[in-house]
Amino acid sequence: MKKEYKVAIVGATGVVGRTALRVLEEKNFPNVNYILFSSKKSSGSMVKFQGKDYIVYELKESSFDIGFDYAIFCAGGSVSEKFAPIAVENGCIVIDNSSFYRMNPNVPLVVPEVNPEDIFENKGIIANPNCSTIQAVVPLKPLDDKYGIKRVVYSTYQACSGAGRYGIEDLVDKNEGENLKKFPYQIHNNCLPHIDVFVEDGYTKEEHKMIDETRKILHKPNLPVTATTVRVPVENCHSESINIEFEKSFDLEELKNELKNFEGIVVEDEVENNVYPLATKANGHDEVFVGRIRRDYSVENGINIWVVADNLRKGAASNAIQILEKLLEKQN
Ligand SMILES: NC(=O)c1ccc[n+]([C@@H]2O[C@H](COP(=O)([O-])OP(=O)(O)OC[C@H]3O[C@@H](n4cnc5c(N)ncnc54)[C@H](OP(=O)(O)O)[C@@H]3O)[C@@H](O)[C@H]2O)c1
Repeated sequence: MKKEYKVAIVGATGVVGRTALRVLEEKNFPNVNYILFSSKKSSGSMVKFQGKDYIVYELKESSFDIGFDYAIFCAGGSVSEKFAPIAVENGCIVIDNSSFYRMNPNVPLVVPEVNPEDIFENKGIIANPNCSTIQAVVPLKPLDDKYGIKRVVYSTYQACSGAGRYGIEDLVDKNEGENLKKFPYQIHNNCLPHIDVFVEDGYTKEEHKMIDETRKILHKPNLPVTATTVRVPVENCHSESINIEFEKSFDLEELKNELKNFEGIVVEDEVENNVYPLATKANGHDEVFVGRIRRDYSVENGINIWVVADNLRKGAASNAIQILEKLLEKQN
């Protein structure tokens, strides 16, 4: 008889947690039982999932005593810091959406289309990368394999859902400064070049995450990468302009085919018909959409691309669940 698996969803009432439940419903893994957790605030609430009403439990140190096989953490860094080691001590493999463990050398940082082999190097925790990094490294991977990436410049246009439910509320309520829930200034009618906190060198933590995580996922620790990350008044789906310089020369049509043929990428690039990736079209999908693929004439071997993906799905929940799927496949 096939084993039954127990999977904990921690932070099931947040925007990533709720998206994870939607993706799990679509995947419909057999022989998997789920238990949902939140903070005390939402505990006791009921969530419709897989056609049934699930109660949400308060996360406690004793929650992992029942022996979970896997847990998906979607509740923030401090929750992961405290509870992921407790889960692991109780025999559970944790897939963590927070940034807390991402740069820990003992923790693999995985995008399944890019470095799936790293999943099985885990010592109990597997980190899901930052949303803006996940969608960027998917197109970088085939181009690095073929042409050798020499330098990357990121400029991002990130949706409010990337800041969680209070970020969406600041946008939707057109909050103009009174009682802002998430952002330092109104996001309605604005662009904020400020995601996560500023650090001493004048960058934000979000920018450092993109730089460091790109190097770790691509296994290129010295790759020159820079980033400017900007919050824009879009509810969901991050857009990114990526400038890439290569070691080798390339044929542009061949390069487009490398992208078209890579798992998880949809190329939308017919400028003559105004076809290019859009947040409104990427919403609800797991693929990374790539367009505006054109030469950068300011360097010998360079391109510019425009990359859009659903930050709650591919940038968080779906990427974590792809990792879970690989773990389940290996066990069965
Ligand atoms: N939003 C994105 O696009 C995105 C992308 C990649 C990664 N992430 C990461 O995913 C995580 C969740 O983000 P989010 O955007 O979903 O945030 P969110 O909408 O604010 O949701 C936070 C969730 O965490 C729960 N929680 C808070 N404190 C808790 C505690 N002490 N114990 C158990 N659960 C607790 C909340 O439960 P209550 O309902 O009880 O408050 C809620 O379910 C964060 O680490 C974030 O950095 C987010």
